[in-house]
Order: sequence, then C-alpha cells, then structure tokens
Amino acid sequence: MNAINIAVVGIGNCASSLIQGIYYYKDKQAEDAIGLMHWEIGGYKPSDIRVVAAFDIDKRKVGQDVNAAIFAKPNCTAVFCDNLPASGVTVKMGKILDGFSGHMKDYEEQYTFVPADALEPTEEEVVRTLKESKADILLNYLPVGSEDATRFYAECALEAGIAFINNMPVFIASNPAWAQRFAAKNLPIIGDDIKAQLGATITHRTLTDLFKKRGVKLDRTYQLNTGGNTDFLNMLNRSRLASKKVSKTEAVQSVMAQRLDAHNIHVGPSDYVPWQNDNKVCFIRMEGKLFGDVPMNLELRLSVEDSPNSAGVAIDAIRCAKLALNRGEGGILHAPSAYFCKHPPQQYTDDEAYQMVQAFINGNGHE
Ligand SMILES: NC(=O)c1ccc[n+]([C@@H]2O[C@H](COP(=O)([O-])OP(=O)(O)OC[C@H]3O[C@@H](n4cnc5c(N)ncnc54)[C@H](O)[C@@H]3O)[C@@H](O)[C@H]2O)c1
Repeated sequence: MNAINIAVVGIGNCASSLIQGIYYYKDKQAEDAIGLMHWEIGGYKPSDIRVVAAFDIDKRKVGQDVNAAIFAKPNCTAVFCDNLPASGVTVKMGKILDGFSGHMKDYEEQYTFVPADALEPTEEEVVRTLKESKADILLNYLPVGSEDATRFYAECALEAGIAFINNMPVFIASNPAWAQRFAAKNLPIIGDDIKAQLGATITHRTLTDLFKKRGVKLDRTYQLNTGGNTDFLNMLNRSRLASKKVSKTEAVQSVMAQRLDAHNIHVGPSDYVPWQNDNKVCFIRMEGKLFGDVPMNLELRLSVEDSPNSAGVAIDAIRCAKLALNRGEGGILHAPSAYFCKHPPQQYTDDEAYQMVQAFINGNGHE
C-alpha cells in the first residue's frame, strides 16, 4: 500500500501536533494507541502519512527541515514526541497575502509571527512544488481571516490536481462555487474548520442535542473561549473573526430543536491570555426550562490542549481523503466533512455523522 503524501500550509501548532502524532503512533500497536478515533482507515495507519511539502512565512520556520520547524517559536503546543529525525523536507516560503494581520507586529517575537524576507512564490511555483513532491492532499492551516491566502492555496490544489482539506474557517467546501470546482475536477474536498476531538464545539453540540432529546427548552446560551497561542492572538483582530463566529455559532444552532434568536446565543473566541499558551479553556452556560416550565441552568468549564485536539481529527480526515482518491471519488466528502468539521456543506448531528463516516470508511455509505 502506498504512503499518503500530504503538503501542509501553515506550520503552526496544529501542524506540530499532527506531525508529532505521525511519529508518536509509529511504534504503537492498536491496543495501546491512546487518543485515536480509528487505528486503521482503509488499511492506513497514522504512520502511513508522510509530509512531502510544507509552506510557511515565518523567518524561524522557512528554510528549516519541517520536523525542526514544528518546534520553532512562536509554536507553543505540548511536545509529546521529540527528537524527530530530519524529514528531508524543507519549509518553503509561502505567499503572505492576508495571512499576517497588522496587529501581530505589536507583540514580542516569541509570541507572534515574524515574516521572513524571502522571495514569495508565484502560483506556478507552488503548483510545481505540489506536483514534484507528489502530494496527494493539501492541508490548510492558515490563520483565521486569511481569506485571500486560503483562496490562493485552494487554487493551487485545484491546479496541481490534488485533494484539499480546509481546517480553518474560510468557506471553501461550504461555498457551492468552490465545491463545484473541486467536483468538476473529481478532486476530494473536506471542510470547513476542523472540529476538535473533544473540544468546545462537540461538547456544546452534544449538550444541545441532549436538551432537545430530553425535551428541555434551551432559552439562551454562551460559549466563551480563552487561549494563549497565536491562533488566539491573531483573533484579537475582530475584523478577521466574521467567518469563525459564523462557523462556531452555526455548529451549535444547527443541532437545536428551535434556532435561538441571535441575541440569545453567543459563541466565539473571547480573549488572549499569553500564559495559557496552547491550553484552551472554554466556559459554556446553557439556560433552559424543563417539566412544568421550571427553569434550570448548566455551567461547564472545559480545559484542553488545543492543537493535539485538532490533530486527533486531522489524522482521520487525511486518511478519508486518501480513501476517496483511491476510489476515484471527488467533490465534497459529505460524511467526513460533517463529522470532522464545524462548518460542513451540510450539517448532521454528531451521531448521524459518526454513522455516515463509518459507512464511508467501510465503503457502503454515501460519500
Ligand atoms: N486547534 C484547533 O483545535 C483548531 C480547530 C479549528 C480550527 N483551527 C484553525 O486552524 C488554523 C491553524 O491553527 P494553528 O493553531 O496551527 O495556528 P498557528 O497560528 O499556530 O499557525 C499558523 C501558521 O500559519 C503561518 N502562516 C501565516 N500566513 C501564512 C501564509 N500566507 N502562507 C503560509 N503560512 C502562513 C504562520 O507563520 C503559522 O506558522 C487556524 O485558523 C485555527 O483557527 C484550529
């Protein structure tokens, strides 16, 4: 069986956890592999994934071997697998466009992005790298608000004829015009905005579904999130947040018995707390009415390391995209998008999406 060749845009904390995980699970057996939703998908294990191309814009990452770049500042996620061997893949300079928000200049280098002064590539050069590296799939890990940069790399994936996994909330899979372009080339696409393994979104959705199933009317709710990584620092620029708020809010609204009025639901990244590093803390409050119209409320605090939480899902999304490529299936992969992403083209409950993704993996479901 072939390896799965991935190209990665944005060698930040999420890419770090993913790449560490590929090595971490190499010497494990199915029985002692903690933290995976699937040990094998279509015969592929996590260690069958190979990074064959990587792009970033930070001077501490560009020009480095990707297995060293994942530990460079400002990355701050947990190191659970160190001493990685050199991969032989050098991080190439990417096209900056709107990947770098102006306010990031106002922070100390150890916390923020520092653009390299290397020459930026043209679309043709990125496409050539993707083709020459024999990448099967391009993963997008750009900062929130990178509208132009995301479209640039999605265009490169289309031009190179490879699959695309959109881990962040610029709408590509859930934008019918973009999805149609991938379908027209029979290239698989999964997106948008990865839904962490056990994070704020899936917890809030599951509780919302529970209210619905137990006949409790949800009147209002909030989900506040704080963290200290560059994702949270970048999101201090509120003008970059529009699609992130839509993605996170819609993920919860879509499993309600009745949608809440906008003023009764508040979901979003809330603040940047530098000392939290990659630890994300989420506070959820839900107010409702149960039997006899009697009020109740629920308060929850969830503390997770943000980036391994997303990598535990990316590792499955990658293998599903490869399965689709092997089967000659292109366009939106609905089941993986619904199970793995916050803002898929079509929302399902997580129970439904789980069944759909199992059927997809077993080859007997719709895509
Ligand atoms: N952690 C999670 O659970 C989670 C969940 C859902 C979505 N996401 C999204 O995934 C994305 C990545 O998250 P992260 O924590 O790895 O972010 P990060 O800030 O650690 O990494 C972003 C990387 O992109 C690089 N970059 C910026 N502009 C670029 C460009 N034009 N070309 C190439 N590289 C560029 C930066 O230098 C940095 O290395 C974010 O949009 C985040 O919101 C993360």
